[in-house]
Amino acid sequence: MSMKIIVGAQWGDEGKGKIVDLLSEDVDIVARYQGGANAGHTVVVNGKTYILHLIPSGILHPKVTCIIGNGVVLDPQAFIDELSLLESHGIDVRGRIFISHNAHLIMPYHKLIDSLNEQGTSKIGTTGRGIGPAYIDKFARVGIKIVDLLHRDLLVKKIKSNIEDKNLLLSRIYNSSMIDVDEIVDTYLQYDKQLDEFIKDTSLYLNQALKAGKAILAEGAQGAMLDVDFGTYPFVTSSNPTSGGACTGLGVSPTSIGSVIGVAKAYTTRVGNGPFPTELKDSLGETLRKIGGEYGATTGRPRRCGWLDLFSLRYSAMVNGIQEIALTKLDVLDDFDAIKVCVGYKYNNKLLKSFPLDLCTIEDIEPVYESLPGWKENIAGARNYSSLPGKCRSYIEFIEKYLEVPVKIVSVGATREHTIVR
Ligand code: GDP
Ligand code: IMO
Ligand code: MG
Repeated sequence: MSMKIIVGAQWGDEGKGKIVDLLSEDVDIVARYQGGANAGHTVVVNGKTYILHLIPSGILHPKVTCIIGNGVVLDPQAFIDELSLLESHGIDVRGRIFISHNAHLIMPYHKLIDSLNEQGTSKIGTTGRGIGPAYIDKFARVGIKIVDLLHRDLLVKKIKSNIEDKNLLLSRIYNSSMIDVDEIVDTYLQYDKQLDEFIKDTSLYLNQALKAGKAILAEGAQGAMLDVDFGTYPFVTSSNPTSGGACTGLGVSPTSIGSVIGVAKAYTTRVGNGPFPTELKDSLGETLRKIGGEYGATTGRPRRCGWLDLFSLRYSAMVNGIQEIALTKLDVLDDFDAIKVCVGYKYNNKLLKSFPLDLCTIEDIEPVYESLPGWKENIAGARNYSSLPGKCRSYIEFIEKYLEVPVKIVSVGATREHTIVR
C-alpha cells in the first residue's frame, strides 16, 4: 500500500484539518510530518469543534492510529494539554498515538527566544511557539530529542549545556534575564514519565505498516508558501510543509508515496507578515474575513484575506506534485457579485513566466486578475457536483483548467457533511 500526502497549497489554514478528518475514514494511520504547535487544524464533528495543534486530525476516528513524526518539533506541555482535552471529550487516545523517538523537543528557551526575536525590527509575525529556535538547534546539532528523555543523565547534561549557551545569548545579545537550569531539568524529567508510553520508532512502524498493506495519510501543517525553501522567505516557517518534507519528516521513502492532495481555499489568506500579492486591504477583505471567520486557530490573530492567487497556486502545485485539489470554503464566496482570480504577476510591466522567489520582486509585482461572475446563491446544502449553481461550477472548472489539476473534493462548510466528492 502507498501513502497519500495532504499538503496546504497556500499560506496555511486552507482547511487541512477538515480534509484530513474526512479522508481518515478510509485509512489506518495518519502521520504529521513537520511543524509543531504553531499549527491549528480545525475539525468539526457532531456539533463539537476541535482545534488540533500537534495531534493529527485523524484522531477523531477511533480506528485510526496517529503518528507524530521525527520532522515535528514537539512541545511536551502542548501535547499533554491536547491529550487531556481530547480525553475530556471522551475520546480514547491511549494506545493509538505515537511520537517518534527522533523528534526534537521544544524547550522553554526556544519560546523565549522566539518572542524576543519578534520584539526586534524585522518581525516575521511568528506564532511564538518556539518553532524557529527549535529547528535552529536541530540543525546546529545541539537539539534535544524525545529519545533523550529516556536517558536521564544524558538529558541533564544536554539541557545544562544548552542553557549555558542560551544564557550567554540572552544576557549578552538580548539583554534578557537568564534561565534557571534546575527548574527546566525537573520539568523535563517529569515529562519523561508522562510521554514514555507514546514514544516509538515511528519510521520503523510506518514502514512495517506499508509492507502490511495499511493505508497511511501524511498530514502537513502550514502550507507550501510558508515552506522554508519554496515559500516567501524569510516570511516563512522553519520547516518543509511541501510534500517532500513527508519523506524526511516520517522516515519513509519517496517510492512509498502514492499521491499528493493539495488543500486550497477558494480565496487566499495569510497570517503574520510577508508578501501577499492578492491581499484586499479594503472592505472586501474585511467581508471575506467576516464571512469566512478568518481568525487564527492558534493565535486568534485576524487573517489577511484576498482573492484566489492561481499564479502562486500553480507554482505550489508544481513544487508539491499536487495531483488533486480539495477546494475549501467555496461557500464563503456565495454573496459576491464578481469574484476575481489572479492569473499572472506583472513586474516592470512585463508578465512573469514563473513565480518570483526574491522578496524584492514579489513585493513589487502587480497581480493580473480575471473577473468571474458570482453565483449569488447559498451552496452550503449542495451534496453533489451537479447541484452546484452553473457559475459556481464554472469557477471550479476555471481553477482546474488553469492549474491542470482536477478539483476532486469541494468543501461548502466546516463539517464532514458539507462536502462534495467528485
Ligand atoms: P487548517 O490549519 O488548514 O487545518 O485550517 P484552519 O482550521 O486553521 O482554518 C480553516 C477554518 O475554516 C476552520 O475554522 C474550519 O472549521 C473552516 N472550514 C473548513 N472548511 C470549510 C468550508 O468549506 N467552509 C467554511 N465556511 N468553513 C470551513
Ligand atoms: P496551519 O497548520 C497559518 C505562520 C506565522 C508566521 C510564520 C512563521 O494551521 O495551517 P512560526 O511560528 O511557524 O515560526 O511562524 O508562519 N504560520 C502559520 N500560518 N497557518 C499555520 O499553520 C501557521 N503556522 C505558522 O503566522 O507568519
Ligand atoms: Mg490552521
